[in-house]
Amino acid sequence: MFTAKDESSLKLRKDYAFPLNSVLNEQDARQLTAFFCWTAWAAVTNRPNDDVSYTSNWAHDPLVGNTPSASILMWSLISILMLLAGIGWIVWYYARQFDVWREHQEPAHGYAQEDMMTTMHITPSMRATAKYFWVVTALFVIQVLLGIIAAHYAVEGQGLYGLPLIDYLPYAVTRTWHTQLSILWIVTAWLATGLYFAPMLSGHEPKYQRFGVNFLFFSLLLIVVGSFAGEWLARHGFFDDLTINFWFGHQGYEYIDLGRFWQIYLFIGLLLWVVLVLRGLWPALQEKASGSLIFLVILSTISIGLLYGAGLMWGQHTHISIMEYWRWWVVHLWVEGIFEVFATAIISTIFVRMGLLRVSVATTMILFATIIFLVGGVLGTFHHMYWSGTPISVLALGATFSALEVVPLMVVGFEAYSHSKIEHEIEWEKNYHWPFMFFSAVLVWNMIGAGLFGFLINPPISLYYLQGLNTTANHAHAALFGVYGMLGLGLMLFCLRGLTDINHWNQNLLKISFWSLNIGLAMMTFLSLLPQGLWQAYASIKHYYAFARSAEFMHSAVMEGLVWARVPGDIIFSVGVFAFAMFVYQAFKKQTN
Ligand code: HEM
Ligand SMILES: [Fe+2]
Repeated sequence: MFTAKDESSLKLRKDYAFPLNSVLNEQDARQLTAFFCWTAWAAVTNRPNDDVSYTSNWAHDPLVGNTPSASILMWSLISILMLLAGIGWIVWYYARQFDVWREHQEPAHGYAQEDMMTTMHITPSMRATAKYFWVVTALFVIQVLLGIIAAHYAVEGQGLYGLPLIDYLPYAVTRTWHTQLSILWIVTAWLATGLYFAPMLSGHEPKYQRFGVNFLFFSLLLIVVGSFAGEWLARHGFFDDLTINFWFGHQGYEYIDLGRFWQIYLFIGLLLWVVLVLRGLWPALQEKASGSLIFLVILSTISIGLLYGAGLMWGQHTHISIMEYWRWWVVHLWVEGIFEVFATAIISTIFVRMGLLRVSVATTMILFATIIFLVGGVLGTFHHMYWSGTPISVLALGATFSALEVVPLMVVGFEAYSHSKIEHEIEWEKNYHWPFMFFSAVLVWNMIGAGLFGFLINPPISLYYLQGLNTTANHAHAALFGVYGMLGLGLMLFCLRGLTDINHWNQNLLKISFWSLNIGLAMMTFLSLLPQGLWQAYASIKHYYAFARSAEFMHSAVMEGLVWARVPGDIIFSVGVFAFAMFVYQAFKKQTN
């Protein structure tokens, strides 16, 4: 398929969206097939003195004797038991605590009678974060366009309605940029929020803070442009030397595709961000009343900065199993652990500062979230390592602890309810209707995208058949955009409340945007990605894993139909994206007029 030019090879290339015009040289093709050969060997060869293969019998294929082992089934059952027990416990705990929390929720001096933002002083460094939000908006729009192109390759393997797009933007590039951008725009929104909030929370503008904010901004821009250019050049064969490719091109590892140089640069950028936020927050730490709350915010800020460093733990020649271990530190521990803690910390702190929540309740809530997310999340990382050559104990720990991650997500309804109660307390709250709606969407998608769709693929017996099918794309879209994307947009609106004049906000655009994004995402998952994933799962269970990903199956009428079923949802979602971009443009434009 990689070198041959005969008709059936070309057809296969078309179906897999491989550019027809690029050919691997003899040596590369040999190395690539040698790699496939080695993975096949590891998948079917039993470990010494054991009756399971190196990959614990993954992937399913009865012809070569790969069927689920007893431990895969046992630990799946136990993980379901853990989840139910955990939910039972947390419901009991909430029932017991809830009256206490609700009674104490009101701040000691009653709810604030005035919107703090109306009298707040916007410092120069806070104002300097505006450009971050323009970039967030632009990157978000580009990400969605690239996503549409990437999805389209699934039906028209070589282009976009006849345009020979594949020669300029092959699938490998659009997919890399699409997934990298999801992280980049969300993180940029959060970084900007941190920079905006630090002086706001402490009421203190450190010296040269604005310079730091601007410097970081240009570094981030350089990283996006530089790493994307490297990825494009790498894909088009401009790096003959693979070491140069590793440093400046494309590492080939999903979500951490960018060259090592850019990765280090981004890590330094994150550390700089931590320093800038800490400088701003420092005076607030000294305050008696809210010191411990700020301390928790600081802790989660530092963790966000430091954890990305785990991505530097592998080198160019590190074994793929070891590399995967560290990669999941970044992808999993970051998102399923620290991000959840940061989200809780930042939202609770906002509520406290606005005079809507008592400090002691907020502090308890953050501590509770930290404990509960990290208990499941840290060892839960192993749910990504069931099949990567690990001992069965890793499978056991991964299955049981990651089941616990789902526990807090099943009771977000409590939180949603108490948020909505607060919102109806005070007149000025309606200024924050849309940011608060985005925060509520975070809770809903946390339950559906992370909780339900995450657990669907989580027990070992499930992932055994489903790893890497569209059930994963389904989960990833609903969780990553649904939770952290929505949070990024909500936080951004919150900051825009101070950066622009709310009296000129086009509330209609926000309404259109909010509902289109949510309905579009729901249609994308429920009408296309989930059914695609389930249909593939059926094929993988009934026949064998590779069959569910084969060109033959992926281009069957049902699968192609389900890919097309994305279109209505994608269109509605895009309306939401453009309405949001329009809103941001108008809000800033009216400001300057
Ligand atoms: C908001 C929180 C979450 C986010 C943003 C998130 C995001 C993601 C993303 C982007 C992937 C794809 C990674 C890749 O293919 O390289 C993924 C995979 C996965 N997630 Fe999550 N996730 C979250 C929560 C959860 C939870 C709570 C569970 C279950 C306990 C879970 C279980 C999994 C599993 C098992 C995979 C691997 C699927 C595969 O390799 O095919 N996730 N997640
Ligand atoms: Fe995970």
